Amino acid sequence: MQRRADRILIVMVGLPARGKSFLARKICRYLRWLGHAARIFNVGSYRRERLGDHKPAAFFDPNNPEGSEARQLVADAALDDALRWLKTEGTVALYDATNSTRARRAHLLEQATRVDVRVLFVESICHDEGIVEANISETKLRSPDYVGVPADIALADFRRRIELYEQAYESVSDPLLSFVQVIDAGRQVVVNRVEGPLLARIVALLLNSRLTRRTIWLTRHGESVFNMRGRIGGNSVLSPRGEDYALALGRHFEPPPAGLVVWTSTLARAMATARHFLVPRTEWRQLDEIDAGVCDGMTYEEIARNSPELASARAADKLRFRYPQGESYLDVVRRLEPLILELERQTTPTLIVSHQAVLRALYAYLVGEPVEHCPHVAMPLHTLLELVPNAYGSDERRTLLTSRIEERPSMMPPSGA
Ligand code: F6P
Repeated sequence: MQRRADRILIVMVGLPARGKSFLARKICRYLRWLGHAARIFNVGSYRRERLGDHKPAAFFDPNNPEGSEARQLVADAALDDALRWLKTEGTVALYDATNSTRARRAHLLEQATRVDVRVLFVESICHDEGIVEANISETKLRSPDYVGVPADIALADFRRRIELYEQAYESVSDPLLSFVQVIDAGRQVVVNRVEGPLLARIVALLLNSRLTRRTIWLTRHGESVFNMRGRIGGNSVLSPRGEDYALALGRHFEPPPAGLVVWTSTLARAMATARHFLVPRTEWRQLDEIDAGVCDGMTYEEIARNSPELASARAADKLRFRYPQGESYLDVVRRLEPLILELERQTTPTLIVSHQAVLRALYAYLVGEPVEHCPHVAMPLHTLLELVPNAYGSDERRTLLTSRIEERPSMMPPSGA
């Protein structure tokens, strides 16, 4: 049973178009993937739901008493919900709004402290106008606030809204508060009074996040000899069809996108699949396939026949089932955590050549799928998955590069698994 004091309210701070929602989603996705109950409470959504879309810039004028009162009411409704959720089921609530004045933040701190919830302020500051401009055009004009509004009118209105917020903006500076300031999309990060393992993890994520948009490709290795025989694990070489896939993959990236790096596991089938690439390649043990322990090298039928208790335990809880002397999916998630931070640090396009279980876990992180779903994500052979992270998750495209490999029944876990 967790004490209430372990509950955390993360208060986002920043002018409009500073990437607060992008950051909040990133933190939320990361925490959920690590198995924590995290949820975003976005004040803009509360406003749209209760007061309607298309509020003009004047509504956000700090000198407009009606607008200010209405905004205060929706902000408090979102805060009440966040604190109630933390009291009942949540661990980390992300309170996504501008929270741009000291008075507003003092109020949030007081409300949270009253119910034993710790507060971390995460402020996004941009001195670089280029970043703000990119945020405005890439995300804000697609915001529900401007649906159906001509781009030039939306742009002028949104710029006016930013100016109005600037008039009252006060940066977080109180040395007694717990805060992280992310400056110019992560070029500089200031950390103040952050204590405890969970907050330390969030800070590690923020320290490593570059917030640049770039493509990540995921692929399993080409078909291996073990795949042909329906055997799991092992360290076998590619089959002839697997070799064809390796060639097709190399050709698909000809010419390679600028800055492309290739990451593989340390297993022979993954390294062979990437060997036609002339760009920098890095081998990571963290990308090695789930360790099937005593079942390594067996078919699913053999496991069901020789160790029916293992087969049914796995079918009952595939996420937590740990192969004797091997790993569970949750173990795979844990060992991938440092790799995720490394991936977040990269600013160039990255191709990851790995294995079914590991790619399922990575995919869940990248698209924001709950970790419970990851053992069941479809991850067929000879298919290239292209992911472009955005503020809401990832845009996704799957390309079959050679003729489809029919996964034989012996290559599939028993139904329900
Ligand atoms: O069958 C190929 C494989 O990569 C095995 O090495 C691994 O044990 C398995 O897939 C993981 O998939 P599942 O968790 O569905 O058994």
